[in-house]
Amino acid sequence: MASTLSAPVEVSSSLDEIIGLERQYLLQNYARYPLALHRGKGCYLYDLNGKRYLDLISGIGVNSLGYAHPRITKVMREQVGLLLHTSNLYYHEYQGKLAEKLAKISGLQRSFFCNSGAEAMEGALKMIRSHGNSISPNKTEIIALENSFHGRTLGALSITGQPKYRKDFEPLLPGARFVPRNRVRMLEEAFSENTAGIVLEFIQGEGGIYPVCETFARKARELADKYNALLVFDEIQCGVGRPGTHFAYQLLDPVLLPDIVIAAKPMACGLPLGVVIANEKAASAIKPGMHGSTYGGGPLTCRVALEFFDILEELLPSINAVGGYFRMRLTEMMRDFPFIKEVRGHGLMIGAELEFPGKQLVLDGMQEGLLFNCTHETVLRFLPPYILTEQDVDRAMVALTKVFKKAKKPE
Ligand SMILES: Cc1ncc(COP(=O)(O)O)c(C=O)c1O
Repeated sequence: MASTLSAPVEVSSSLDEIIGLERQYLLQNYARYPLALHRGKGCYLYDLNGKRYLDLISGIGVNSLGYAHPRITKVMREQVGLLLHTSNLYYHEYQGKLAEKLAKISGLQRSFFCNSGAEAMEGALKMIRSHGNSISPNKTEIIALENSFHGRTLGALSITGQPKYRKDFEPLLPGARFVPRNRVRMLEEAFSENTAGIVLEFIQGEGGIYPVCETFARKARELADKYNALLVFDEIQCGVGRPGTHFAYQLLDPVLLPDIVIAAKPMACGLPLGVVIANEKAASAIKPGMHGSTYGGGPLTCRVALEFFDILEELLPSINAVGGYFRMRLTEMMRDFPFIKEVRGHGLMIGAELEFPGKQLVLDGMQEGLLFNCTHETVLRFLPPYILTEQDVDRAMVALTKVFKKAKKPE
C-alpha cells in the first residue's frame, strides 16, 4: 500500500529566530511556551530538534485524531486536489451530508456552518436575539453562568462569566445575567418573561473542568420552556466525542435536549469548522439573508468532518475506557501527592485541581516530553486525542510522577 505520509521536511529556523520574529511582528496577545513544533504522528509531536512529546492537550481539544491520521490525511489530499472553497453561493456534495449526520447524532434538526467556536456562539446569540424580538422588544435577556467561557468576540464575551476576559472591552451587549453553576434557586430568580435564552457549558472547560449537575441542567430546560426562552449548550470544548458520547448532554439518561447546541474544535481534526445545530423552533428565528459566513462549511472541512464522524463511531467506547483509566491513575496519584485536591471530568476531558498554581508543572511536563496545560490557575487540563491508549496513559503517568515529585507549593 502506498504511504500517505510525505518525506520529512527540513527545519528552516531555530526556536530563537522564530521567537524573535514573532516578538517583532506579531500582536503580543499570546503568552506562548518556549516550544516550536515541527511535525506530529499519532498522539506524538516533535519539536525542531526532533524531541518527542506525548500530546495530552491536542491543540486545546482540536486535534481529535492526533496527527497525520492515515484516513484523514488521505481524504484531505484527495479533496485539496479537487475543490477547497465554493462560498455559500453554490452547493457542494458534503455540507448537506454533514448536516444530516449532525442531525442524526444530536437529535436536533438544522445546521449552520462557520469557522470557529466564537463564530458559532455568535450564530446562537443571533438566534436568541431574533427569537426574543419576535415575541417582544423587551425579551432580550440572556442567562449565562459565572466562570463560563464562550469565546473572544464581543457577543461571546458578553455572556462569558469571567470578568478578566471582559473588563477591557466594556460596554458589551446589554442584558446578560450571570448565575453561579448548580445554584437552582438563583437560576429560578434570574428567569423572567424578558429572558430570550440561556447558555450553558455542560462541562465548563476554560473554567476548570466543572460539570453542571443534572438537577441544574434539567431545571434550565424546564425554565426555558416555561418562559419560552432558547436553551443553548456550548459544547465547543466538552462535546463531539470528547465526553465519551457524541454530546455531553447525552451523558444524562434520559437525554436532555437543548434547542441549540454549538460545536467546533474536534470536528475537522485541525481544520477550522464550527457549527450551530438547532431544532426547528430555534432555526426558524433565522430567515433568508439574516446570517452567513463566506468560508463556513466548505467542501474540505465538511468532507474531513464526515470522515472524522465515521471514525468516531468506532472510537467512542475507547474514549470512555481510556478516559476512565486516565482518571483512575490520576486519582491513585492523590495518595502520594496530596496537593492534588480533585480529579474531575468525563471521557477524555479531564482536570486535576491542585492546591497551588500549576504553570510550573506544565513547564516541567514539557521537559519530561509531556504536553498539557493549566487553566483557571490551579487546574491541570488534559484534552488528549481520542486515539490515546492505556499504554499512552501509562507513559504519561511515569512523566507526571516525575513532575509531581518536583512540585512545590509556592512560599
Ligand atoms: C466552551 C467554549 N466556547 C467557545 C470557545 C471559543 O472557541 P474559538 O476559540 O474556536 O473561537 C471555546 C474555546 O476554547 C470554548 O472552550
